[in-house]
Amino acid sequence: MFAKHSKIITITAIATSLSFGALYATAQEKYGIGTSVGPDEIAKYDNDIHIDGTGLPEGSGNVALGREIYEYQCALCHGEKLEGVREMGAQTLHEGRRDIKKLPYATSLFDFIRRAMPLTDPGTLSNDEAYGLTAFLLVETGVINDPNLTLDAESVKAIKMPNRDKFIIDPASRFTAKDLEDK
Ligand code: HEC
Repeated sequence: MFAKHSKIITITAIATSLSFGALYATAQEKYGIGTSVGPDEIAKYDNDIHIDGTGLPEGSGNVALGREIYEYQCALCHGEKLEGVREMGAQTLHEGRRDIKKLPYATSLFDFIRRAMPLTDPGTLSNDEAYGLTAFLLVETGVINDPNLTLDAESVKAIKMPNRDKFIIDPASRFTAKDLEDK
């Protein structure tokens, strides 16, 4: 019974995606809108990094590089001293809800910066620049006390954020403490 149902669901899903695909293709031909997305284009966005560091790219960057990029590309919204520019919609990155220090994993910080920032032009930072910005932000917020910090995949993975152990599992969640264990 169940197997039969799931077959029907699968067939429906395939049929739906085929017809959507066909619709999309028709819209391209008929109205000249939209473009096909190839593997190269998809790869640009399919670059998320796991908290354990899986997916971290090659390259490295230091605080000096991060500071330079920050001044040109980030300060207009996040402020010279990370205080946040209200008119640009950014809160401080140094205190309060958005405090960098509160993040449980440095890998997520790198991932977020490279994928989502600068807000006006995401996806344009090189890996070195994203490593440099991660280093700069961790030093500026006092997580790591080393003005010459250089980061790469191995060292980002090794950072233990000060707040990591303060996260608790929501009892209503399907996750258990085991899911958060270091691998
Ligand atoms: C056009 C404005 C703008 C620019 C430019 C910009 N950001 Fe942001 N950024 C935001 C906004 C808005 C948020 C949302 C969170 C908030 O309220 O601050 C954000 C969030 C972030 C966060 C997440 C903070 C958190 O804990 O949730 C980080 C880290 C960050 N930005 C880094 C950068 C870096 C690094 C650059 C430069 C490469 C940059 N941003 C450029 C507007 C901007």
